[in-house]
Amino acid sequence: MTPSLLSIRNLDVSYPTSRGHARILIGVDLDIARGTSVGLVGESGSGKSTLALALLGLLPENAEIDAQDAMFDSCPDALSPATAQRLRGSDIAMIFQDPMTALNPLFTIGTHLVDIQRRKFPHASQADLWARGERMLVRVGVSDAGNRMRRYPHEFSGGMRQRVVIAMALLVEPKLLIADEPTTALDATIEAQVVDILRDLRSELSAALLVVSHSFGLIAELCDTVIVMYAGTIVETGPVNVVLHDPRHPYAQALLACEIEPLSSIEAAEPLVTIPGTVPDPANRPVGCVFAARCPARHDRCIEPPPLVSQGQGRSFSCWLGVSL
Ligand SMILES: Nc1ncnc2c1ncn2[C@@H]1O[C@H](COP(=O)(O)OP(=O)(O)OP(=O)(O)O)[C@@H](O)[C@H]1O
Ligand SMILES: [Mg+2]
Repeated sequence: MTPSLLSIRNLDVSYPTSRGHARILIGVDLDIARGTSVGLVGESGSGKSTLALALLGLLPENAEIDAQDAMFDSCPDALSPATAQRLRGSDIAMIFQDPMTALNPLFTIGTHLVDIQRRKFPHASQADLWARGERMLVRVGVSDAGNRMRRYPHEFSGGMRQRVVIAMALLVEPKLLIADEPTTALDATIEAQVVDILRDLRSELSAALLVVSHSFGLIAELCDTVIVMYAGTIVETGPVNVVLHDPRHPYAQALLACEIEPLSSIEAAEPLVTIPGTVPDPANRPVGCVFAARCPARHDRCIEPPPLVSQGQGRSFSCWLGVSL
């Protein structure tokens, strides 16, 4: 078995609000083995970014974080502010959805690529860091890299900026690379190119990858394991090909049915599928199964919290459907 890089048990995140306590993550377990790739999928508001930001120690100050266990690379207490800050930008790196959030318009691309390396390589010379940055730009497919190093972010297209951000993340040689919706700000052609880069890098990198996305398709392209999240809880997890071809939780089934097939569905003029209803208010969560109000397979038992059912091949899901009467 591949050794574990990250192991989190029973993570809760909540915020005090005027309407009461908003519970954003509830009892989340997350395991990422070294060199593997895990995808986190779920609709908007399910808590995906909250989980990613918790790993980076970037949640707002009023967030209440509680975990039974949080181990990163034999470092305990990985979610404490001091530890998370130490790990961020050296052992854990992030590719954000909008590359402009990671780039300062006042600095050249070269300055960004050099500065990001300083903490990890404090004794390297400016010239070495510059050369390393330039090589990494070439590696992520930026042509004329020598010249582009002296240019500013606004002189780059969206896809090129995302390549720069990927280069920045890779330059620190992280053990875990988190990509939160890495392609949603890009058009379809550029999205395909960025997915290709991430897939190529995956096969060469020793880093583990956590990919956050609305799209099962993107996760299927990049990941070994998928975690399906709904309203702050994990409803199903398992190998991507197992869950993708045979999802067991009604929410995972509904989410997959909503995936837009490129062009084919348009040609066939099929109506877009949606999941009726909305994600519950985190300050007013239902008792029992959190998906019950929207679930086509709802049953009397769903007023009780569903058990976690393990079903071989590394798959588990949280639903009464997995329990025989
Ligand atoms: N500072 C905060 N205070 C209170 N609630 C918050 C705060 N930040 C986020 N939330 C709530 O946490 C929930 C989960 O948000 P999060 O951004 O993690 O979802 P997500 O799955 O990443 O969604 P998306 O796909 O839209 O990016 C949402 O209901 C959001 O309103
Ligand atoms: Mg998000």
